Amino acid sequence: MAPQISPSILSADFARLAEDVERIADSADWVHVDVMDNHFVPNLTLGLPVVQALLKHSRLPLDCHLMIEDPDRWAPEYAEAGAKSVTIHAEAAKAPIRTLRAIRAAGARAGLGVNPATPVDGFEDLLGEVDMLLLMTVEPGFGGQKFLDVVLPKVRRARELIKGRDLPVWLQVDGGVSAETIERCAEAGADVFVAGNAVYGADDPVEAIRNLRAQAEEATAKANW
Ligand code: DX5
Ligand code: ZN
Repeated sequence: MAPQISPSILSADFARLAEDVERIADSADWVHVDVMDNHFVPNLTLGLPVVQALLKHSRLPLDCHLMIEDPDRWAPEYAEAGAKSVTIHAEAAKAPIRTLRAIRAAGARAGLGVNPATPVDGFEDLLGEVDMLLLMTVEPGFGGQKFLDVVLPKVRRARELIKGRDLPVWLQVDGGVSAETIERCAEAGADVFVAGNAVYGADDPVEAIRNLRAQAEEATAKANW
């Protein structure tokens, strides 16, 4: 699959979300929406009401990343509201198979996220239940953190697991993805790139997306996964 860019509105202006989403509508593939509950992560952002409002104003599909304690309770509602991708965290879900199936049943792509220290190997048998694996490349909770190179071998292993099973699972990296790090991620096998600070912190977000995409495409072509 060609690399996709999913800018995170965590680094956008929360008082002007609709405008900031519109700015990237012709150049990005998704809008990454970080839902944080101040329990699973030490930060609080937004929830379902804001996502419902944003859905009315976004031409791009929403990629909702739920960093919340009870995703089994909430995730299906994001899909029912119209989010096209809903990712739950493996560390938080008590019934991940049921919840992933509920997300799919509601018409969205089902994502499974893992923190930097969570091994991905234990989830091999769940790959058929997911449309995307999200590998955190920073500890979740805040934008603008430094990329954790230590996660790269796991990206590679995850790509090998997906390839070995011949499944159409997308592999997303999230955290510290920038012009300095995106090539390493693509070489390791990632194909969906979340970027908050690297897009919304740039003078020209559209140009930033274009450059990130070009770098990812070149590195992907070389890697030949
Ligand atoms: C962090 C969030 C990320 C964050 C990435 O917990 O999941 O999506 O917005 O921001 P950057 O790209 O600035 O590291
Ligand atoms: Zn995220």
